[in-house]
Amino acid sequence: MARPTHRPGNLPAESTSFIGRRREVAELRKKLLTARLVSLVGPGGVGKTRLAIRAATDLGRSFAGGAWLVELAEVGDPALASNTLMAALDLRDQAGAEPTELLLAYLKDKQLLIVLDNCEHLVAAAAELVHAILASAPGVRVIATSREPLSIPGEHVLPVPPLELPAAHGAEPMHQLRQNEAVALFVERAAAASGTFELSRSNQAAVADLCRQLDGLPLAIELAAVRMRILTADQILERLSDRFGLLTGSVRGALPRHQTLHTTIDWSYDLLSAEEQSLFRKLCVFAGRFTLEDVEGVGADEVLQTLSSLVDRSMVVREAMRAASCFRLHETMRDYALLKLREAGEEEAVMERCTAYYVARCSRAMPGARYRLAEWLEWTELEIDNIRSVMRRCLNVGDTTRATDLVAAVGWYW
Ligand SMILES: Nc1ncnc2c1ncn2[C@@H]1O[C@H](COP(=O)(O)OP(=O)(O)OP(=O)(O)O)[C@@H](O)[C@H]1O
Ligand SMILES: [Mg+2]
Repeated sequence: MARPTHRPGNLPAESTSFIGRRREVAELRKKLLTARLVSLVGPGGVGKTRLAIRAATDLGRSFAGGAWLVELAEVGDPALASNTLMAALDLRDQAGAEPTELLLAYLKDKQLLIVLDNCEHLVAAAAELVHAILASAPGVRVIATSREPLSIPGEHVLPVPPLELPAAHGAEPMHQLRQNEAVALFVERAAAASGTFELSRSNQAAVADLCRQLDGLPLAIELAAVRMRILTADQILERLSDRFGLLTGSVRGALPRHQTLHTTIDWSYDLLSAEEQSLFRKLCVFAGRFTLEDVEGVGADEVLQTLSSLVDRSMVVREAMRAASCFRLHETMRDYALLKLREAGEEEAVMERCTAYYVARCSRAMPGARYRLAEWLEWTELEIDNIRSVMRRCLNVGDTTRATDLVAAVGWYW
């Protein structure tokens, strides 16, 4: 009997159901047959990352070396793009070797599919790196996600549209409405949140109009749907319409998509309790994934309850990483949280607490690391983006003492 072959790779398991996108997945598959770089391009929250991971999970099976996700969102420094890719591939730096060279030498004869997620803030560095990989590693193909194209030779751009919209007022027959992508996402998330929600004749018009108002943007739809625990679709529609109306002078249709999303996040944020708001804005200090202990470390007490309700409200994503349970903010949410932290005049104090926490934490972990290397490496891997961003912050304000302490404490990781 043939045993299932285990492909290497690091793609995360999807933690919520995946809806629709058949056309886009098919298109991506077709393009990847000929092109070696396909960039999924679209606005924040439209579903680029989900689509890339879904497609790579299917397509990765035909690559001997499997499919690998590299998250660039958390990398602030373009010079670290190669290091990030190496870390994602489980390669360690070697003293004296230039990371890009090491990487290219490793990839040269490999057959892999690489998903480079969130290239937009490092477009130039990502473009340069991908260009070098494509030139020297013929068996490697890349799916990039970005809010703008990488603009290098050989790139095929696949624009990611919002989810397919239903007809106004849910005018189509019920079975057809259920098949609609935006409606299906709303219904799934609303049912998961409330436990009882079902699409019916009495709510179909409101649900369809809500999806239309939200431009079929998955992130906005998810934020609205979790509110179905206490509000009806009509109530949500009414409240959101009021907000959008204020922005456009009541003529709907002139709102750009990023405005739709920003306003929906605003609305969700305003519905949080004061403690939830306060915790949410602090979470932007974490550049990458974080644990409950980290949140407590940056000076928030009694966080468990508040953090759980932020997860329930889709403001924070929960993820299982190896054994540990951890959390992260969607990129768009992190940008938003930082704005709110600044508005509240808390940025400096919270950043300082975060720095103090990581310096103390890393120095504490260091001495015993050699006896518990596996555990220490796992922790460092989860936290490395946070640690790097703290280092950068220290350097930016001329705090070389603490930056050096951090480098010394995580030196083994590199
Ligand atoms: N086809 C889908 N099925 C189910 N959920 C989806 C789908 N597409 C997107 N989502 C959900 O919508 C949210 C936003 O999607 P995603 O993170 O993929 O957007 P993005 O385009 O990568 O955004 P950004 O540019 O900010 O990185 C996520 O919570 C994701 O799980
Ligand atoms: Mg993304």
